Amino acid sequence: MAILFNEKAKTLTLHTKNTSYQMKIGNLNYLLHLYYGPSIKDPDMSYQIMQYDRGFSGNPYESRNARTFSLDAQPQEFSTQQQGDFRTASIEVVNGDGSYSFHGKAADYRIVRGKYKLDTLPSVFDRDKDTADTLEVTLLDPVSHVQVTLLYGVFEEADIITRAVKVTNQGDRPIHLKKIMSLCLDFLNGAHMDLVSLPGRYGQERQVERQHMTHHIHTIGSVRGSSSHQQNPFVILCDREATEDYGSCYGFSLMYSGNFLAEAELDQYDQLRLVMGIHPKQFSYELRPGDTFEGPEVVMAFTTHGFTALSHIYHDFYRSNLCRSKFVQDVERPVLINSWEAAFMNFDDVKLVEIAKAARNMGVDLLVMDDGWFGKRDDDNSGLGDWYVNENKIRCGLHRLVEQINDLDMKFGIWFEPEMVSEDSDLYRAHPEWAMEIPGRHGVRSRNQLALDMSRKEVQDYLIEKINAILDDANIYYVKWDINRSLADIWSNALPPERQGEVYHRYILGLYRVMDEIILTHPDILFEGCSGGGGRFDPAMLSYYPQYWVSDNNNPIDRLKLHYGTSFVYPTSAMGAHISDSGRFVPLETKAVVAMCGTFGYELDATHLSRKEQKICKKQSDLFRKYYHITFRGDFYRLTNPFEPGNMTAWQHVTKDKKESLLSVVVTNLTCNGPQEYVRAKGLIPDAMYSVNGSKETRSGAALMNAGIPINREVPEYSAFQFYLVRED
Ligand code: DGJ
Repeated sequence: MAILFNEKAKTLTLHTKNTSYQMKIGNLNYLLHLYYGPSIKDPDMSYQIMQYDRGFSGNPYESRNARTFSLDAQPQEFSTQQQGDFRTASIEVVNGDGSYSFHGKAADYRIVRGKYKLDTLPSVFDRDKDTADTLEVTLLDPVSHVQVTLLYGVFEEADIITRAVKVTNQGDRPIHLKKIMSLCLDFLNGAHMDLVSLPGRYGQERQVERQHMTHHIHTIGSVRGSSSHQQNPFVILCDREATEDYGSCYGFSLMYSGNFLAEAELDQYDQLRLVMGIHPKQFSYELRPGDTFEGPEVVMAFTTHGFTALSHIYHDFYRSNLCRSKFVQDVERPVLINSWEAAFMNFDDVKLVEIAKAARNMGVDLLVMDDGWFGKRDDDNSGLGDWYVNENKIRCGLHRLVEQINDLDMKFGIWFEPEMVSEDSDLYRAHPEWAMEIPGRHGVRSRNQLALDMSRKEVQDYLIEKINAILDDANIYYVKWDINRSLADIWSNALPPERQGEVYHRYILGLYRVMDEIILTHPDILFEGCSGGGGRFDPAMLSYYPQYWVSDNNNPIDRLKLHYGTSFVYPTSAMGAHISDSGRFVPLETKAVVAMCGTFGYELDATHLSRKEQKICKKQSDLFRKYYHITFRGDFYRLTNPFEPGNMTAWQHVTKDKKESLLSVVVTNLTCNGPQEYVRAKGLIPDAMYSVNGSKETRSGAALMNAGIPINREVPEYSAFQFYLVRED
């Protein structure tokens, strides 16, 4: 059992293979946080906490004249409200009597075999081979009868600890939750730490930023109704010296697709608190007597071996414990061609069949019919919500179109944007009250579309019925699920005025229900997520979709940064990447090398390619399949940082047994008559001998990792190299 209770010290310790996490039911039954870091055996780490009279820091009433115990200076497992701790709170609740306070004391704990589940939200799961355990600790406020349950999932082998929270109103009057964080983690000293986050924007998602901790609250979050392009629900706290290969790194990955907040506060004594959960903006959730609210899960990891090791923990875990789709482990992903950049909305059935015929020569398995096939949808001003085939475009009908594609020995995929509605649509004309618009005001337009009120059961039922009807009507192998605006005008006509603070979260709950009913009921369909590119790329979404479109930006040189940033937490197998016409001066071969750092496919009009180009594509599709087991199942190494000045970007995949590796390099900026560049491999066995691209001459892992491979300077701009290393001894 990876969770131990020490009777004498009243500590609870969670152990994974390389880490330990400890808390204590301490003074006056406050739940104190003692430790998270490399494995320890010590049953009681509370010796670290020194008690002083801190002046102006309050003491609990029960302490009477003892002025040295203040929650303002104690590391806590769940920071509370109005208890003399002036740092950021994990909970803000308005009690039935109107008071803002929560005095939760540890009341009970429970250790259970297996990983807990959340009833309303997606969460990671344990497989048969996993040793996973659950700890539940209950904090109870004896006056308000508000109960908080802290949930911990411990995946011993994977080196992962998850956290989630539940709040139950055990009183007899309604309460209102204003803030509820799923995670609170206090460090006794955080002045030496950096915060790494993945900010971005449309077309440039998940760029990497690193900031030193200073004495204020550093916030990372989204209030766009979705986890967003602009921030990602993932942060790292690391040593200031941490690099790819060295240093302590803590990762925090939130499984939530709506508004989120991470706050890192360096306090007056250089203690650091991180809280993470649903963003409190416009959040006010009523809990009636007996009601329970669940906060989303945070997946935590720690390593002393730098960012690469942290990424490996997440990649391995998310490849096995996040999504149950058969396309994660059992069935290889197809090479697809998507109609969007080939034809936008200007296509018909004949054009699609032509694209498919040409793509077949390129080794493509699947044709995806993107936006434009339904309702009245010739541009993006109309049609959303009308999920029936536009027979002016698909004249032969969907069924026959799919048959024609299948007759080419190819599979068929289709696009939806379920959460949206156009004002010019039959759906809006029939149900204007289903759109999110504030009464008496005009709603904010974005791509000239409105968001549906996903919190409404009728809306959910409508989408489930319409989309399932399409999926069940034809032989559909793949679905791209898109969303193309941020939420504004937060309002639900189905909720009374005093409950409008629930809409943001209820939207996400409704969305997850729709996804449950469409995605989980179609286990044979491969689903890919998309949000105007990679705008809602988060682990909750990846628990439904094995892959997610990284960005609408297909420029292969920009993609180097996009893939680099995304790879900090998400594996190659999750990263949708295509070859398109974007990047005019970049050779097709280079585009393919970049797309092989993801799920690989095409996004262009294949009928415009010459025979020679189609042959190149066929070769690249074959290579993608050849290297699949390395790129999809191996360890990923970022060899260079594309955000730093340099002449090339390099990355590498290595199989778990270290017998094969694919090392990829894109030359971005070779200066005239400059120095020779070398790329140094990682993750190989130093003593083993490897062939490079089939050469008879072998090199040792040590040579490849220390001396490196020289990169030919006399190549055209934006050339790429792939070095396929195979252990030969
Ligand atoms: C945004 C997506 O990112 C694109 O790939 C495409 O599907 C369009 N939406 C279609 O409207």
